[in-house]
Amino acid sequence: MGDLRKFHSAPQLFDEAAKHILGLANQSGETFTVALAGGNTPKGLYERLAAADIRGRFPFEKTHFFWGDERFVPPTDARSNFRMAQLALLDPAGAAPQHIHAVNTSLPSAQVAADDYDRRIAEFFKTSPGKFPAFDLVLLGLGEDGHTASLFPGDPVLKEEKKFAAASRLNTDEPRVTLTFPVINHAKNVIFLVTGESKRKVMKEVLEGQGGYPAIQVKPQGRLFWFVAP
Ligand code: 6PG
Repeated sequence: MGDLRKFHSAPQLFDEAAKHILGLANQSGETFTVALAGGNTPKGLYERLAAADIRGRFPFEKTHFFWGDERFVPPTDARSNFRMAQLALLDPAGAAPQHIHAVNTSLPSAQVAADDYDRRIAEFFKTSPGKFPAFDLVLLGLGEDGHTASLFPGDPVLKEEKKFAAASRLNTDEPRVTLTFPVINHAKNVIFLVTGESKRKVMKEVLEGQGGYPAIQVKPQGRLFWFVAP
């Protein structure tokens, strides 16, 4: 189940999560590798991390930003998870371009982009066959259908055991690229960020291991946290 931390409001959640992540970053080794979550919820956290009182203490010089998932849209598209993080955190923090490892959605297809992302992750983490990258931190959201990252119910990608990144929702008009469960589950820290009454029921079932939702498959070797607010 992990370490469940309930807060009275989303702003309080973002403040506490930002301070927790600041601690993880400052305690990490030579590099701090983080896979950012997409969607709407994390925006408030990214803005809190970019605020002067935390930005000034955050080791951006050793932090490398990846994405837990990405919509296969241009980086300028309002749906882009890269764009959301760029505006809320990366630009205000002055993150170095060589520390930003976004999914390349300018490639011909989500499949090509997933294969490229998979290769770049392998190169960065210097993995060898059978060895998975261990992100210092993976941030995740939770959908009302129990999806997380872009690991949706019924998608074949839920069963991926070898690749680090893969394409998903290929039979829809918005294909995606996502980290796979083996990579998420090799992370040193995983934090779910969940706000809103609409998520209460699915979150309860996921925490109880009920409902067969994809998010139930998140069982990291490292520490699992749930930061939740109404
Ligand atoms: C995405 C996300 C997705 C998101 C959940 C929750 O690209 O949409 O990665 O998994 O985390 O859908 O989204 P909200 O936090 O916006 O409710």
